[in-house]
Amino acid sequence: MRGIATCLAWALSITSTYAAPPAGAGPKKCAVTEFSQQTIFVPPRDYNTPKTLYGRTAQLEDGTLLATWENYSPEPPIVHYPIYKSTDKGKTWAQFSTVKDTVNGWGLRYQPFLYVLPRAIGTFKKGTILCAGNSLPTDLSKTKIDIYASRDSGKTWTFVSSVASGGRGIPNNGETPVWEPFLLVHKNELIAYYADQRDPEHGQKLSHQVTSDLVNWGPPVDDASSATYDNRPGMTTVARLRNGDYLMLYEFGGGYNPANSGWFPVYYKIAADPRKFDEAEEMVINAGGVVPTGSPYVVWSPSGGKNGTIVVSAASHSEVFVNTKAGDKDAWVMHKTPQESAYTRSLLVMDDPDYLLILGAGQLGGDNKVTDTVMRLPNL
Ligand SMILES: *[C@@H]1O[C@H](CO)[C@@H](O)[C@H](O)[C@H]1NC(C)=O
Repeated sequence: MRGIATCLAWALSITSTYAAPPAGAGPKKCAVTEFSQQTIFVPPRDYNTPKTLYGRTAQLEDGTLLATWENYSPEPPIVHYPIYKSTDKGKTWAQFSTVKDTVNGWGLRYQPFLYVLPRAIGTFKKGTILCAGNSLPTDLSKTKIDIYASRDSGKTWTFVSSVASGGRGIPNNGETPVWEPFLLVHKNELIAYYADQRDPEHGQKLSHQVTSDLVNWGPPVDDASSATYDNRPGMTTVARLRNGDYLMLYEFGGGYNPANSGWFPVYYKIAADPRKFDEAEEMVINAGGVVPTGSPYVVWSPSGGKNGTIVVSAASHSEVFVNTKAGDKDAWVMHKTPQESAYTRSLLVMDDPDYLLILGAGQLGGDNKVTDTVMRLPNL
């Protein structure tokens, strides 16, 4: 363990209201070490293609990291989300627990998302870990976004509530599935964002629902939709910026791509209220003529200057796209990373916010495995 495991996390909560600690106060920074493309999990040979996909991570208040991904184990038994754990800042990982479908009998199949509650919601205390995901049966005939919770740092998981249900899990216009949950606490509520194909006016749009107790959910509210039925805005992620604004990132199937680099240019919107993205301006990420495409992810770090740093990943690039001007559309800069591109790599700002963890679980249709990189923010 080389002493790293005894390193204390900063005395600040891992929250969406992240703030740099005052100089000279509290425990000193943890030693986060850089490494690239470390293997977390190599699937057994009998796994189904793509074996792994869509990795996600969360950091607990004590610095422990958890990771999960779509896990294509042979069926039966029904599929589940594995939970791997790292106590050395992402360098080594071990199988820790599993999140299993205990309500549908279908499996937890697609699009997991991990989130540490930064404050209590209902009976769920601050620090509770939530795992949202898309439950589908083996024949993909239904989709259902369910939430599970762990009150013991990820060891055991229990079903909490279901946010949204849809039709078969096929990503074609005219089908009616729901996809890709992302969670965010705003004030005393939890927001669940997801992609929604149930509105006959839109092939796919982006919606959210809100809860104040994690049991009862409000009605779906639009976040992004296109006047062109065939267009498919998808895959919401959201980051809170230093000025208190929220940045919503998404792929915009059919959206205008000034670089002609593909069908799913990465777009974003900025709003003061993360429940009101629908009315916000749509902007495309364009770093000097390079427009990233597909399955994006966004985080914000307080490091990197007065505005901190917005970091964006997309399937099209191993690089990340960085903005230190609070999302100014002319201020995106592309930087190299040592972590190979993947279908929806996840980003995590470490407890030392000078460092970024990038996790990838491979490409659509790939013969995949799960790997991660920890690197200094490339603009520092
Ligand atoms: C912070 O963002 C604002 C708004 O885009 C910009 O005008 C300013 O130059 C940025 N500050 C730094 C230090 O980059």
